[in-house]
Amino acid sequence: MPAFDLVLRGGTCVLPWGEEATDVGVRAGRIAAIGDLRTADAAESIDCTGLHILPGLIDAHVHLRDPGDPAVETLETGTRAALLGGLTAVFDMPNTAPSITDRERLDWKRGYLDGRAWVDVGLYVGASKKNIPELAALELQPNVCAVKVFAGSSTGDLLVEDDASLEAVMRSGRRRICYHSEDEYRLQERKPLFHSGMPHRNHMVWRDVDCALIGTQRLMTLARRTGRPAHILHVSTAEELELLRDYRDVSTVEVLLNHLTQTDEAYDRLGGYAVMNPPIRDERHLRAAWAAIADGTIDVVGSDHAPHSRAAKERPWPDGAAGLTGVQTIVPLMLDHVSAGRLSLSRLVDLMCAGPARVYGATGKGRLAAGYDADFTLVDMKRERTIEEGWIVSPCGWTPFAGHRCTGWPVMAILRGAVAMREDEVIGSPRGTGVRFAEARG
Ligand code: DOR
Repeated sequence: MPAFDLVLRGGTCVLPWGEEATDVGVRAGRIAAIGDLRTADAAESIDCTGLHILPGLIDAHVHLRDPGDPAVETLETGTRAALLGGLTAVFDMPNTAPSITDRERLDWKRGYLDGRAWVDVGLYVGASKKNIPELAALELQPNVCAVKVFAGSSTGDLLVEDDASLEAVMRSGRRRICYHSEDEYRLQERKPLFHSGMPHRNHMVWRDVDCALIGTQRLMTLARRTGRPAHILHVSTAEELELLRDYRDVSTVEVLLNHLTQTDEAYDRLGGYAVMNPPIRDERHLRAAWAAIADGTIDVVGSDHAPHSRAAKERPWPDGAAGLTGVQTIVPLMLDHVSAGRLSLSRLVDLMCAGPARVYGATGKGRLAAGYDADFTLVDMKRERTIEEGWIVSPCGWTPFAGHRCTGWPVMAILRGAVAMREDEVIGSPRGTGVRFAEARG
């Protein structure tokens, strides 16, 4: 019997301690060896000359809308998009229709992954004012990545906006809680200042810097008071990044690809297809986000893939839906940022592999190291390619990045030892399963 099921030969591996030209051996779906395997006996071997081998990339922030509207997205289409885009795991948000807020729906969702998920999936549980006492048990269920709290309203009906309820959520359970942080009171107070049909750029005027900052200040005060770890999702302002540097004892930080890539000019160019919560803002915030990538403030980069129908995106502002697709395009766009010199491949791996594993406590993922799952994203940093709408497999069928030319492209993805995507084709059938978390074992 060969020593390995699979050997990746001749590539440049992005290891936790740096880049190394070395080989990787896989046995029974896990990494069995890293080193010179030129003469090793293997059932299958892949020539990776000219390619970088990254640990399987993770998008820790996606809305796959299942249950919901299959004309927009399903778990099957969303995970297929993830795989074609070079990801091997996603963490799926709970604001579906209906939302994932109790044991029954969570169990249903876990079972639903079988035969439908093309990549591995972590599951968020939504907090509502009704399920606060149950959250402590729900967060310990298998495959749960975190409790998600909408402290400001967005798509769906999940909302926990007042300090007393937020504190009660923090006192129910102990794992890190993920927050959508916009101050609901300021959002509602300012709503009457705007009316239907106003230019889309008013989205960032309505949901302004203070909405985000006040929301995050309130959450940080409560997190420190209760000692409950927080993860502030999609931080979008220079001011919050500055604040969060003083709360590293209780908080980790996510920034989105969109906030690293788009500025307010997008409203004029894309109309409703630039509208998301929290909003895309001006250049000053984009520069602050890149500075926070450079100095380590940011732990995770995600896409916040949030598909909606074209009809919902094309309604006049502010009646349209907020949220942008991104699960299929995050990897090419982040690789393009690497090519432009804005971050290194090692930092990308930190943000999309080690970061999610650390923040959410995932086990067996996020690290190219012996014993870990044999999940790999193979990238060709010389490949140039333009993102085209026809490539998008989410049924809603659009991307705000159509026409964007990328240098660097994911050419292959390997899931637990088997090639799952190669050159734009998904291979075999959906083999995705629930991601495991140290503190959630059932
Ligand atoms: O723009 C957004 N869309 N922000 C969110 O927080 C939710 C998301 C969605 O689910 O549509």
